[in-house]
Amino acid sequence: MFLRNKKNKISYSEITPKQSFMDRRKIISSSSFFLSGYFGGKLFGNIANAESLGNKENTLNYNRGYSVLNSDDVLNSKIDVTTYNNFYEFGTSKNDPSEKSQNFKPFPWTVDVGGLCLNPGEIDLRDYIKDIDLEERIYRLRCVEAWSMVIPWIGIPLSKIIKKFEPMGSAKYIQFETIYRPKEMPGQRSRRILPWPYIEGLRLDEAMNDLTFLAVGLYGELLPNQNGAPIRLVIPWKYGFKSIKSIVKITFTKEEPLNTWKRMAPREYGFFANVNPNVDHPRWSQSRERRIGEFFRRPTLMFNGYTEEVSHMYSGMNLNRYY
Ligand code: MTE
Repeated sequence: MFLRNKKNKISYSEITPKQSFMDRRKIISSSSFFLSGYFGGKLFGNIANAESLGNKENTLNYNRGYSVLNSDDVLNSKIDVTTYNNFYEFGTSKNDPSEKSQNFKPFPWTVDVGGLCLNPGEIDLRDYIKDIDLEERIYRLRCVEAWSMVIPWIGIPLSKIIKKFEPMGSAKYIQFETIYRPKEMPGQRSRRILPWPYIEGLRLDEAMNDLTFLAVGLYGELLPNQNGAPIRLVIPWKYGFKSIKSIVKITFTKEEPLNTWKRMAPREYGFFANVNPNVDHPRWSQSRERRIGEFFRRPTLMFNGYTEEVSHMYSGMNLNRYY
């Protein structure tokens, strides 16, 4: 991708326990220069057409955001993060997304925002990103299948986008939709895998929570196709299936959206899907998890370790039940 700002280069091995909120916002002085450079005209064209990932044109400029890590959290390698994936649009095996997503074209990309809001419209992702400060968030990602990783995402809080579109008082939820492009996404050629397009949803207060993040990159580079290029949600206190990839449509609604996995198996997957070690999946325990790269299983944390930031939103709920 682009030029890489040395100051910006994080040595991931340097990430120390509880560094967390400490070094929140290190503003990179030259960020606007880099953003306008790499999203402008010709250079951007190169990105849009870049077939291979990891080339120079994929590098993002970003501010050091905050990370909330525990002392025993270690970043997963880029190889782990980009080769062990769930993205059924490309197939159901963990290696399908990295092996079968080469033909997917993430740019140009627009996100259609509508429903119960005063200011509906489209976001041209390239224009939008060049005007905002991207930040990094290092989050644990816990899949409902009981594996987990620690991933350095680049993006913006979802709340920033929501405010721009001015949801009406009647809007209580927000629905997200993944692109439907069976020519480029081989898994979508079969309706037996999932009913396409993939749908997810959040309650509006969850969507406005500061942890809820729209990622456009990881490990300092644009999102690889297999991780949900060019824009995906990351909701670290919920099971990974809520973190919908390759979003093309956002709708403010009055009713709770019917998310794809709940539609498929309502007795196994809920709407809220908050990580909860006390409530087992009907077919397996959720009390422990396999951190990718580790030998022994580790205990699963309530809300995936983000209780302080999110538990106030669920004060009336019985946390021994599945939602
Ligand atoms: N989004 C779409 N559109 N399709 C999917 O199959 N899988 C989900 C989620 N988002 C999925 C999706 C699941 S089950 C998980 S665990 C995470 O993406 C995995 O994200 P990762 O591959 O970047 O680790």
